[in-house]
Amino acid sequence: MRLSVYFLPTLKENPTEAQIVSHRLMLRAGMIRQTAAGIYVWLPLGYRVLRKIEQIVREEQDRAGAQELLMPTIQSADLWKDSGRYDDYGKEMLRITDRHEREMLFGPTNEEMITALFRDNVKSYKELPRILYHIQWKFRDEVRPRFGVMRGREFLMKDSYSFDLDAAAARRSYNRMFIAYMRTFARMGLKAIPMKADTGPIGGDLSHEFHILAETGESGVFVHRDFIEMDWRDRDVDYSGDLQPLVDELTGKYAVTEEKQDPAIEAELGDKLVAARGIEVGHIFYFGTKYSKAMGAVVAGPDGEPVTVEMGSYGIGVSRLMGALIEAYHDDAGIVWPEAVAPFRIGLINLKKGDAACDEACETLYRAFGDEVLYDDRDERAGAKFANMDLIGLPWQVIVGPKGLASGAVEVKNRASGERQEMSLSDVIARFGRV
Ligand SMILES: Nc1ncnc2c1ncn2[C@@H]1O[C@H](COP(=O)(O)OP(=O)(O)O)[C@@H](O)[C@H]1O
Ligand SMILES: [Mg+2]
Repeated sequence: MRLSVYFLPTLKENPTEAQIVSHRLMLRAGMIRQTAAGIYVWLPLGYRVLRKIEQIVREEQDRAGAQELLMPTIQSADLWKDSGRYDDYGKEMLRITDRHEREMLFGPTNEEMITALFRDNVKSYKELPRILYHIQWKFRDEVRPRFGVMRGREFLMKDSYSFDLDAAAARRSYNRMFIAYMRTFARMGLKAIPMKADTGPIGGDLSHEFHILAETGESGVFVHRDFIEMDWRDRDVDYSGDLQPLVDELTGKYAVTEEKQDPAIEAELGDKLVAARGIEVGHIFYFGTKYSKAMGAVVAGPDGEPVTVEMGSYGIGVSRLMGALIEAYHDDAGIVWPEAVAPFRIGLINLKKGDAACDEACETLYRAFGDEVLYDDRDERAGAKFANMDLIGLPWQVIVGPKGLASGAVEVKNRASGERQEMSLSDVIARFGRV
């Protein structure tokens, strides 16, 4: 992409409405704009990151055996009356009336819809287990939308739903999702800690929240120090095997949200206990037959008798993750994207637009880098170009100027470490070019 034509409205000044660094940087780097309280436009740069996050989430869901579908954002109130949650959900639910005076709503979550879908289409235990998911916009009329995409009213969520014949099988599905979550966050460069959590209005008795530790996190969390040092990134997982030992290992140490604190254990932990703030990026629940019973999701079991299916639901805050990533990866100059989710891998800077040699070298590199390059081909001061590239935080900067080119070299800067290296054009292409 050429910056001269790219829709990237960056801001020089810090926007006063933003209280936390990720919100400030997303506004300054031209990634989002608010259009109503807690509702955002995703500008091209921000949308590219959102799609990359989404793709990692999708790949790890698929790897764990979940199947993607897409349910609508608008739901019928009748579905929610069947489960009994229509009244319980209260003011967080955006209720809509259509032209025929039918009660509709903008989905805050999809347990009811998927349970009805399952009930109407699956009749036998032979079709179990099933894990279905979608990545879809949700609306929750939060009392206090804040911190940008961190707590929006409209936000993108990945939500999965599992269906099993009995509790033991449901636990296996839960474990699959548990591990898929660990892999998902690790791939983005995030250290997520699974915390024993309250089940809240979704109900049920087994639940974990996945938190990224950050000072700006909204939740108080309490964790064993070992978790903070844990590195999960290089672990490989065999989904066809028994995942319970791995899940036990990852939940073996104390890690809880405020609601689940245990004073006795905390006293015992002494200085091994760390009190911190966390950003909840994922939340998984096993809730047994809560919805299947209310809505009649029953299959014929092996002996022909009807069995009410066991369910779980599993959410990831896809749009919130972008805020969490920036909270974890930034410095004074701007965002420092991990490669896996960077909007572009490379920022190409032409220090002397109009100089034949610079223009030609840049065009060659631009073609070689494919769609992972943002080329600053504007007629701007070098200082402004550097500041802008640092702000948007692409992992690599390739800087082309007349002086270096005279000896056949360009400069390559790593955004995270600040290290700079002279390289020949052909080496840069060999290293970063399309394969
Ligand atoms: N208002 C919001 N804005 C952005 N992301 C959200 C919001 N509410 C929930 N999420 C994300 O969706 C995931 C699943 O939501 P859930 O646990 O059902 O919501 P909550 O924790 O608010 O009860 C959360 O872990 C979080 O990452
Ligand atoms: Mg939650």
